[in-house]
Amino acid sequence: MSQTASDLNKKKTSDHNSKDNERWLTINGKRFHYIWLRDNCICPACRHPTSFQKINDISTFSSIPKPLSVVIEEDQVIITWQEEPIHQSIFPIAWLMDYAYDQDAGTNNLHQKLELHKKQEILWDRAWIETNLPRKYDINTDDFDAWTEQILTLGFAILKINNHQDLENLISKIGPRDPFEGERVLFPVKSVPGATDLSETGYALDPHGDYETYKFGPHLLQFLYCVENRATGGESFLIDAFKVAKDFRQNHPSYFNLLVKTPIQFQQIYTDWQYYYRRSRQIIELDRKEQVRAIYFGHSHAYNWDLSFEQMEEYYEAYCAFSCALKDPSYHYCFRLEPGECIAVQNFRVLHGRNAFDANSGVRQLDVSYTRWDYFIARENFKLFQTLYLND
Ligand SMILES: [Fe+2]
Ligand SMILES: [Zn+2]
Repeated sequence: MSQTASDLNKKKTSDHNSKDNERWLTINGKRFHYIWLRDNCICPACRHPTSFQKINDISTFSSIPKPLSVVIEEDQVIITWQEEPIHQSIFPIAWLMDYAYDQDAGTNNLHQKLELHKKQEILWDRAWIETNLPRKYDINTDDFDAWTEQILTLGFAILKINNHQDLENLISKIGPRDPFEGERVLFPVKSVPGATDLSETGYALDPHGDYETYKFGPHLLQFLYCVENRATGGESFLIDAFKVAKDFRQNHPSYFNLLVKTPIQFQQIYTDWQYYYRRSRQIIELDRKEQVRAIYFGHSHAYNWDLSFEQMEEYYEAYCAFSCALKDPSYHYCFRLEPGECIAVQNFRVLHGRNAFDANSGVRQLDVSYTRWDYFIARENFKLFQTLYLND
């Protein structure tokens, strides 16, 4: 049975004046502006059929698109537009429901599902970890999706990997490895004479994320692969900085706001490359819903800040309070990394560090590699939404 748009609007949008009725169509209680419908037409002339990119340019229309007729069938809507030559759009109703943007669109539409990765997060501290001890995933026998799922919930996974080749194969399943310095994609981290980085000494490493504080570049998924660990000390620890920030927001709201609003400078000097990296950024970054989206922290890179005389002392108060919170052992998941084990970390959520070790007591070598977080999340999104594109 067919129904026209004017019938539908009479029934469902009778509280609007007739001018409004000319501007949108209501399907299953959800309103879609005609300009949106015309812009998002999925016919092959408007949307390229294999790249799914938009060809139609709504900005060239001289007036708001108007329908000549709207026919609503059981599973699709057919709109014929007042255009010269006449144009027709056919939308599957299920497709429209997935892309609905009306205020009562509910939690099942695409925009909500894309934010689900955020909702999937389980914020943890040491007590949570002790009662929910994460398993170690053997990449040869465990399902690939099992550990990637844990990255989405906890921000890390511990993997058992036989050798470098297996690590390489694993990372290339997600995306190209990110070469940071020239062509190097695997960084051996061990104590060396004349170290250019604190990680190449036996010093303890305070909680930090790699690179994203002082370098311009993408969010990272980091892999810390243990090659050898014979040294005394050098235990690894992980911290869910989103959990720390959540508690910090409650306990110190004014400090929290200061860290959200005030950019400070992070820097790194590489004498061999003759690079002096310097970047200004806020330690805590929020998304458009005011939720914590990223934490950028690395005490060894945070110095010589460009703050005014009036700001300096107050900022130090907030900075030190947050730094102490990150170092609070009640947030630390502490363990000894064994050879063949690899930590995969969402670099801008879960901070990592290590206790000091005695470099003379034995070799401790971690090989570190990265890929872009973008590849990881885009792959997850593709799994979720490919049917919206590939089945029509
Ligand atoms: Fe690091
Ligand atoms: Zn079209």
